[in-house]
Amino acid sequence: MLARTAVSQSVSELGFKSTYQQFLEQEGIPVIKAFFIEDIRKLELATWKRMGGLGAYLNLEGTEGVNDSYICEIPPGKALKPQKHLFEELIFVISGSGATTVWRDGGRKQTFEWQEGSLFSPPLNTWYQHFNGQGDKPVWLLAMTNAPTVLNLFHNVDFVFNCDYGFTDRYNGEEDFFSGRGKALSEIFWDTNFIRDVRTFELKDRKERGAGGKMMMLEIANNLMSAHISQFPVGTYKKAHRHGPGAHVIILRGEGFSVMWPEGKDIKRYDWREGSLFVPPEKWFHQHFNVGGEPARYLALKPFSSRKFPGLRKQFGTSESVKRGGDQIEYEDEEPRTRVMFEEELAKRGVQSRMAEVFRGS
Ligand SMILES: [Fe+2]
Repeated sequence: MLARTAVSQSVSELGFKSTYQQFLEQEGIPVIKAFFIEDIRKLELATWKRMGGLGAYLNLEGTEGVNDSYICEIPPGKALKPQKHLFEELIFVISGSGATTVWRDGGRKQTFEWQEGSLFSPPLNTWYQHFNGQGDKPVWLLAMTNAPTVLNLFHNVDFVFNCDYGFTDRYNGEEDFFSGRGKALSEIFWDTNFIRDVRTFELKDRKERGAGGKMMMLEIANNLMSAHISQFPVGTYKKAHRHGPGAHVIILRGEGFSVMWPEGKDIKRYDWREGSLFVPPEKWFHQHFNVGGEPARYLALKPFSSRKFPGLRKQFGTSESVKRGGDQIEYEDEEPRTRVMFEEELAKRGVQSRMAEVFRGS
């Protein structure tokens, strides 16, 4: 759709392939380049020799070359091959259940179990191996990674996959590391290494982003990458805002649509439901509308976004009005036609708008 991102270009202006591009070609699995994916559970996967399962890479336009994601299938009753690398991964279990064993060279192994809806991250540069716990069903994992940045930064695939440094400041074999224990860093920041089920994880009220929504920001495995879960009620929509590239938004529940646009340009609309995935490009405004009969919930996996270790995180005012120099459009400043689009969609479905109370409280 858009041909402006580095990640979607196979060669640079001088005719060279980036290290990440060369790596992708060696991987030998499909690379899906898209703006929006309607259902991540229905993608075509192919045999993935390095991983020992099936897979496909996703290079969504809105990542702008910063991060990527992949889907990996562990066939029934099987295990993937052990892996270790210098890029971070946030893993969301799309379907199935199983276990992962984690260890350092010469260190003790530890194994934890996961299920559909789990979220975790193998600590940086540790060995890890995933197992399918069921003999009759495949496991599908989605992993968001910062491999494009890390591979292009070191410009050497061998180094990224064969570095011996142990990041013991991130993980030092702690026995309860993957137990799901956590620490509230503030009312809406949860610091943990494992979430059993992001679909039912308890969220906290967050009024600033509109729609009477709830959310929880997640700091995971001492990574620079992070995540959040957001939920908003029936008959409501959130405020538009904009930020940096690469936030993978996975719809966990509900039906609705999002509009996205770069400032001054026309809006694009994407209809979503459980299993949809999209990545708003850098500085594109985006706004989410719930038109279904149940609360809409999504998981956002974000690169370099940890508040603990800000890394390369850009400082956007994601919940501050554009009128005050921020990057959020308040309800009273929005274009009336998106509200009309929302009302029409609700009317078609016989769902009542609850925005009157939201406007009153905003
Ligand atoms: Fe956003």
